[in-house]
Amino acid sequence: MKKLIKNGTIVTASETFQADLYLENGKITGIGQSQTFGPVDETIDAAGCYVFPGGVDPHTHLDMPFGGTVTKDNFETGTIGAAFGGTTTIIDFCLTEKGKPLQQAIQTWHDKSAGKAAIDYSFHLMIGEMTEAVLNELPSVITNEGITSFKVFMAYKNVFQADDATLFETLIKAKELGALVMVHAENGDVIDYLTKQALAKGQTDPIYHALTRPVEAEGEATGRACKLTALAGSQLYVVHVTCAEAVNQIEEARKQGADIWGETCPQYLVLDEDALRKPNFEGAKYVWSPPLRPKEHQAALWNALKTGALQTIGSDQCSFDFDGQKSLGKDDFTKIPNGGPIVEDRMSILYSEGVEKGRISLNQFVDLTSTRAAKLFGMYPKKGTISVGADADLVVFDPSVERTLSAKTHHLAVDYNAFEGMNVKGLPRTVLSRGQVIIKDGMYVGSPGDGSFIKRSTYGNTLSNEKVEQ
Ligand code: URP
Ligand code: ZN
Ligand code: ZN
Ligand code: ZN
Repeated sequence: MKKLIKNGTIVTASETFQADLYLENGKITGIGQSQTFGPVDETIDAAGCYVFPGGVDPHTHLDMPFGGTVTKDNFETGTIGAAFGGTTTIIDFCLTEKGKPLQQAIQTWHDKSAGKAAIDYSFHLMIGEMTEAVLNELPSVITNEGITSFKVFMAYKNVFQADDATLFETLIKAKELGALVMVHAENGDVIDYLTKQALAKGQTDPIYHALTRPVEAEGEATGRACKLTALAGSQLYVVHVTCAEAVNQIEEARKQGADIWGETCPQYLVLDEDALRKPNFEGAKYVWSPPLRPKEHQAALWNALKTGALQTIGSDQCSFDFDGQKSLGKDDFTKIPNGGPIVEDRMSILYSEGVEKGRISLNQFVDLTSTRAAKLFGMYPKKGTISVGADADLVVFDPSVERTLSAKTHHLAVDYNAFEGMNVKGLPRTVLSRGQVIIKDGMYVGSPGDGSFIKRSTYGNTLSNEKVEQ
């Protein structure tokens, strides 16, 4: 099938221009005037719309076990929701268990996703310990699996948390192998202490989730990870940055020349700590880690996106039903499964609150939601841009549509929407994954299993190369 997208305004991370696109065999093969292209089987009229590269969401948790339950959204519902929101690639976190082969964990994640994903996907690999066995397996994870990013949790004591020795060795090994190390930066030991204190005082409501995970615990862990990275001469990506304290640590380390990147998420840009105080246990809908912060941190995050102190937007999609899952923590906030449904609304919120409100430019929007993540995680320019030879992962985005985000209209399986009632401008009208239309006029028209696993390049290989291999 040869397709033409005509009359649209093409937006990349660096340019905005009027052009038609010609798509063949799942790739972009022409950018320019449609008269110069070959024969066409299907034409998509993008008049009045922007054409963006499909979103790359570098941070999802689909079909993930947590706190005795499993996320409501799996690789099918989660990637369909993502597609409705304009995201055409996700990178999910493959969890590992101490003492078990990494290969076993990777196989588990392939089993969860194969034949289900609506869009292309890849995995980051969690490192929880650095044993001989892990060290021996890592080269093959990079070379054979194409998994080129490792995740270390500095929080979730007695569950996912790794010690500093593990983080430091992971950084050193990653440097040698060409992997990017990612950290969940909160001081898990301090949080564990504060949590026990709160429970001893009978403080069991959802708001205590936020109050026992202060910004200092995030700032401290972020600073520690940055310093260990500089010491190892390695590279770091800090996931879900929520506060000025953490932004400052990243900014300072970057100024000193460290190879460090930071991500924030839509929820931290538009929601605040007071959501956890909602009556009738509704605050549990907003329990995730790090927690929502006092409102003043939002301005610091927007400013960091504008100035480049933070470079990407992930969703940290990790959904649990309010009814039956979040309710596990009705009498004890530590039993509320952590996470929220964000993947579908990630790009819409950033466009509406960012571009429409003049906080970031249109090109920054594309860089933050797509291009930068593709570059950092070894997928550029196959993913993350509009250029000849790139995958035809495209979003025809109508900026004139006004709509209200709601669980009544979202496409995730989870029973609530974290942004319920929020008005946004803009709608991904048509979404293509490798040239195939998967979202059309509010309908999912693809098939689960259309999405493929992507083996990624090592870190640094696709950071600055602007040319596509033909
Ligand atoms: O609360 C969250 N964010 N759950 C998912 C796991 C993580 O820390 O990213
Ligand atoms: Zn995390
Ligand atoms: Zn996460
Ligand atoms: Zn939707």
